[in-house]
Amino acid sequence: MSGYGAIKCGELRAEHVGKEVDLYGWVARRRDHGGLIFIDLRDRWGVVQVVFNPADAPEAAAQAGELRGEYVVRVSGAVKRRLPGNENAKLPTGEVEVQAAELEVLTTSRTPPFPIEGEAAPEESIRLRYRYLDLRRAEMLRILAVRHRVNKIIHGYLDEQQFLEVETPMLMKSTPEGARDFLVPSRLHQGSFYALPQSPQTLKQLLMVAGVQRYYQIARCLRDEALRADRQPEFTQLDIEMSFNDEEDVFELTEGLIARLWKEVVGVELERPFPRLSIRDSLLKYGTDKPDLRYELEIADVGDLLKDTEARIFRQVLDGGGVVRALAVPGGGDLTRRELDELVGLAKSARGQGLAWFPGQIEKFLTAAEVEGIRAATGAEEGDLVLLAADRRRRAETIMGLVRAEVARRRNLVRTEEWRFAWVFPMYLFEEDDDGNLTYAHHPFTRPVEEDLAFVEERPYDVRAHAYDLVCNGYELGGGSLRIYDREMQERVFGILGLPLEKVRERFGFLLEAFEYGVPPHGGIAWGIDRVVMMLAGTDNIRDVIAFPKTQSMQDLMLGAPSPVDPVQLDELGLALKPRPPRVP
Ligand code: AMO
Repeated sequence: MSGYGAIKCGELRAEHVGKEVDLYGWVARRRDHGGLIFIDLRDRWGVVQVVFNPADAPEAAAQAGELRGEYVVRVSGAVKRRLPGNENAKLPTGEVEVQAAELEVLTTSRTPPFPIEGEAAPEESIRLRYRYLDLRRAEMLRILAVRHRVNKIIHGYLDEQQFLEVETPMLMKSTPEGARDFLVPSRLHQGSFYALPQSPQTLKQLLMVAGVQRYYQIARCLRDEALRADRQPEFTQLDIEMSFNDEEDVFELTEGLIARLWKEVVGVELERPFPRLSIRDSLLKYGTDKPDLRYELEIADVGDLLKDTEARIFRQVLDGGGVVRALAVPGGGDLTRRELDELVGLAKSARGQGLAWFPGQIEKFLTAAEVEGIRAATGAEEGDLVLLAADRRRRAETIMGLVRAEVARRRNLVRTEEWRFAWVFPMYLFEEDDDGNLTYAHHPFTRPVEEDLAFVEERPYDVRAHAYDLVCNGYELGGGSLRIYDREMQERVFGILGLPLEKVRERFGFLLEAFEYGVPPHGGIAWGIDRVVMMLAGTDNIRDVIAFPKTQSMQDLMLGAPSPVDPVQLDELGLALKPRPPRVP
């Protein structure tokens, strides 16, 4: 058998009529029809119809009667034009069929747990359990091909720009991306552990010290963090770093590559340069650091308009240092009480008190001037509803961001055919963690905007950084920064973060030491390739773009991972398992 170079099922066209072909593939369907047997034969390139006629090839026709779905076969025969009226315009091969002369069954198949041909995707846990069958579906093969194409374009573009692809290790030391590490116990150094990379961040900075100047890698990253529709514990970054550069170089390079991807993969010409939006404006106007700009709906700060208000809910919040934010819902005057309650529920899910609105609820506590001022600030027109949230600044932003997205979804305001890229830049250097403590917003090597350090003690959260995120249609596709290369500055930032120097030396001593041997100013970016492929392939589920993904509970249902290991293996590693706490029923 040498079917490797044979013509593909899905490639047969009218131009092949009259040719003798050898086809290899899977039986997609079998139909028996007035003595004739038809099969749809499938390979990666598509499906073609094969006809078995007992009058021409009695032996093959008899064998064909035994075929079942997903049997793997070789068929030889002649390509014929279909009879007029029998063409199938929906199939690229629909003008032709193959008149079988010979059939060989290479392997048989059990009945698959779901139809490979079906339009609708089967239930996800079954897809993941039988992923090899799920990937056999045309839609999944299409997505694998999109991903391949994306990688190929990336390699080509960065090669043109003289970037070097360098591979960095998987067995490394904890990296500073702020998630939990996956750890690998060392057998030779018992009691010590490698950490799997959350990103190649520290290593790519060392490559700049090494003089690589332009580095990239399509790098696997591992983070033990809560999963969402756009997050996997194991994902892939396009990781980039360069020397002697500023932000503009990163933007230019990235936009050029994104534009090429969109043009070559989906045929879309993107407008450049991408707009820029400071993190301050992004949080204020859109209530999020990854705004979806495919609809307008801008949030307004109305605290100043309410500075003398007697409305208690606003008075208390403003006096406590909080803010009041407002959003006009176009035509929202017709929202039902139930819809309003659902929006209030959304605000409460973000730990807010709820929402206020007018007309219909809060206006009796406001003066006419206040109502008018808020209407003007939000651009509310006749028939619109104005929603208000009063809270601590960060929480009010989150609430209004959620409400904005939900209103857009319900009112069909999203222009789904658009691609709205933007840079969120500059970003802040620090943020508050869940416990209200100061922490780094990006990572501790991010270069602050120097002049802002003058007020770092009084207003740390206002200090800007040379850091940027690339966002598109409400997704964060990438992020990066220029790095600190000055020792004094680095120690100062560690000091503000409250990271004691011994601790820093233990974690990042190798990097600080390297910086003493001639470090070039440098900076870079990493994008989530999975998310880029999601957009280009048109799916909102990250698991669709990863061949073998994990479930939301971080399991591989096909491999059965994670799984217990042999006690001998544990012993070799010098590990013992603690008794498991009894399960709470
Ligand atoms: P950051 O942590 O922002 O930056 O990651 C960069 C991009 O990687 C993607 N990403 C993920 N994708 C899928 N699943 C996940 N769990 C996940 N986590 C992150 C996102 C994100 O924008 N070293 C820095 C980059 C730099 O400073 O150069 C870094 O890793 O698309």
